[in-house]
Amino acid sequence: MFDIGQNDLAGAFYSKTFDQILASIPTILLQFEDGIGKLYDQGARNFWIHNTGPLGCLPQNLAKFGSDASKLDEFGCVGLHNQASRLLNLQLHALCKKLQGQYADANVTYVDIFTIKSNLLANYSRYGFEQPLMACCGYGGPPLNYDSRISCGQTKVVNGSTVTVKGCDDSTEYVNWDGIHYTEAANQYVASQILTGKYSDPPFADKMPFLLKLKF
Ligand SMILES: *[C@@H]1O[C@H](CO)[C@@H](O)[C@H](O)[C@H]1NC(C)=O
Ligand SMILES: *[C@@H]1O[C@H](CO)[C@@H](O)[C@H](O)[C@H]1NC(C)=O
Ligand SMILES: *[C@@H]1O[C@H](CO)[C@@H](O)[C@H](O)[C@H]1NC(C)=O
Repeated sequence: MFDIGQNDLAGAFYSKTFDQILASIPTILLQFEDGIGKLYDQGARNFWIHNTGPLGCLPQNLAKFGSDASKLDEFGCVGLHNQASRLLNLQLHALCKKLQGQYADANVTYVDIFTIKSNLLANYSRYGFEQPLMACCGYGGPPLNYDSRISCGQTKVVNGSTVTVKGCDDSTEYVNWDGIHYTEAANQYVASQILTGKYSDPPFADKMPFLLKLKF
């Protein structure tokens, strides 16, 4: 199972222009393709490939790049980050199609995590969440509860007083855990959507009925 793109793109925004980031996507994917080829050569035959989520909706990226409201998209997320995610995913999907043809004796399954997570963030209350963009475990309070100086679990002197960053009372109300990662509750929702098979190419529900019996 591969879940790729988030660190490659999110990290690049700190030192590269948007055009440079887009130009680097084919290189990122060549490295990925090379890695898949090495695994195939060693006998791997089942490849489960997640695309990257809407990066612009992570509190860490919103805190650093989201202060200009005109740069936010329809979800209230950093537009360029989400655009970069979409462009990487388009090319990753094309690569998966190519690999499906190239490795005819293997299963190469592309899973559209971006769509699952976007739907969760846009329609969070329908899925039982109260906070789509604010971190559960962070510092600074609403709207993001994220401060790059001090992360979840750390104890530090901030603004002259010693602070320990703890989780919120009920993490099941939050989509985001620590500004970067999703909560267990959000990941459970994502897993339940993956297992419908609707977000996979090729769809797998007919092939792996045992997965649908898992309870979430
Ligand atoms: C591909 O997936 C199907 C369905 O799970 C499985 O029956 C088959 O053995 C897999 N192919 C390989 C080469 O492992
Ligand atoms: C939110 O839900 C509505 C109604 O089901 C749907 O049309 C829309 O596509 C969803 N939003 C996203 C971003 O998936
Ligand atoms: C910390 O202090 C700075 C400067 O006085 C202030 O702008 C900021 O809001 C403070 N942060 C918190 C979380 O209290």
